[in-house]
Amino acid sequence: MSTFNDRSLRACRSEQTDYTPIWFMRQAGRSLPGYRELRKKYDVLTLTQTPELAAQVSLEPIERLGVDAAILFADIMLLPIAMGVDVRIVDAVGPIIDDPITKPSDVAKLRPFEASKIGYLQETIRLLRSDLKVPLIGFSGAPFTLASYLIEGAPSRTWTKTKQFMYAEPEAWHLLMETLSTAIISYLKTQIKAGAQAVQLFDSWVGCLAPSDYREYVLPHVQKIFDGLEGEHVPRIHFGTNTAGLLQDFANVSAEVIGLDWRVDLDRAKLIIGNKVIQGNLDPTIMLSDTKTIEAGVDRIFDSLNSRQGFIFNFGHGVLPDTDDTKLKQLVDYVHAK
Ligand code: CP3
Repeated sequence: MSTFNDRSLRACRSEQTDYTPIWFMRQAGRSLPGYRELRKKYDVLTLTQTPELAAQVSLEPIERLGVDAAILFADIMLLPIAMGVDVRIVDAVGPIIDDPITKPSDVAKLRPFEASKIGYLQETIRLLRSDLKVPLIGFSGAPFTLASYLIEGAPSRTWTKTKQFMYAEPEAWHLLMETLSTAIISYLKTQIKAGAQAVQLFDSWVGCLAPSDYREYVLPHVQKIFDGLEGEHVPRIHFGTNTAGLLQDFANVSAEVIGLDWRVDLDRAKLIIGNKVIQGNLDPTIMLSDTKTIEAGVDRIFDSLNSRQGFIFNFGHGVLPDTDDTKLKQLVDYVHAK
């Protein structure tokens, strides 16, 4: 009889586990064959908004790869959609908003979040919890990363309009951050109530900010989000990329776990973030090379840890779409055997 594998949750609480738990950001969807088949028939938003299909996509990596946690198949843009924003997800591009925020008065157009707007997500979570033998991680985009899509209207690599708005309209910026933060707290509480056993906040693009700007324009809002979830008693994961220069501030939140990318050595990061649990930080691009190179990358990560307690193996960002899933499976087995 199979029993529940709670190693990922125990690692979040810094408890000892018999092997290091591993899961992958963007493990649901992207590279897996079952998902690719479904995508021939449905667009991404339809998949995320159809509970039976979304649950099927979330389950695929558990069955195929043997990872120690499931992540809800959703997208960070589902929250803005629930707040009345028109979002399209365009193949090979990403989220597009035809009517982005360009002036302070646009912020007021965001409607307050209501749980009733994401009934489909609650249903997906319930379906997953009845099937899963590993913990289910819920998630949300962080206010900066969400704001970057709302203001740019499309994926950006420079975030010029976002920063321009932040510098030129600080009052409207803080109102936007506050509006999003309040919504994020209820959005994550709704996921937890439906059955999510841990939550991750994705601040994928916040590493583009100077540390002093991060402290002034973003950090107080993120702190409020994690503090607002304190009473939920589920592990909270704070993830960002390019955060090496922000780390002291980035980790200055009440989250239990800090998600790191590969641009930082774990032993150095640990000195800065202290007692918190670390999640990361293999470069997902290494999966496009051979097994020997991949295993050397894993070895280097374990060598840079003083203790395996309080560590969850992951990539430093999402699985790349071209990744061969047999290699992902080998990686899971290799980490479990370490
Ligand atoms: O992690 C998972 O497996 C769960 C599913 C998930 C999706 N989006 C589904 C999706 C998660 C956790 C996200 C988060 C997300 N979405 C982030 C933060 C994480 C990150 O990668 O930095 C961001 C920035 C987005 C916005 C977004 N959605 C982009 C930039 C894109 C296009 C590029 C891409 O392939 O990721 C999307 C579309 C999207 N969301 C896809 C999936 C599986 C691609 C769909 C496809 O083309 O099949």
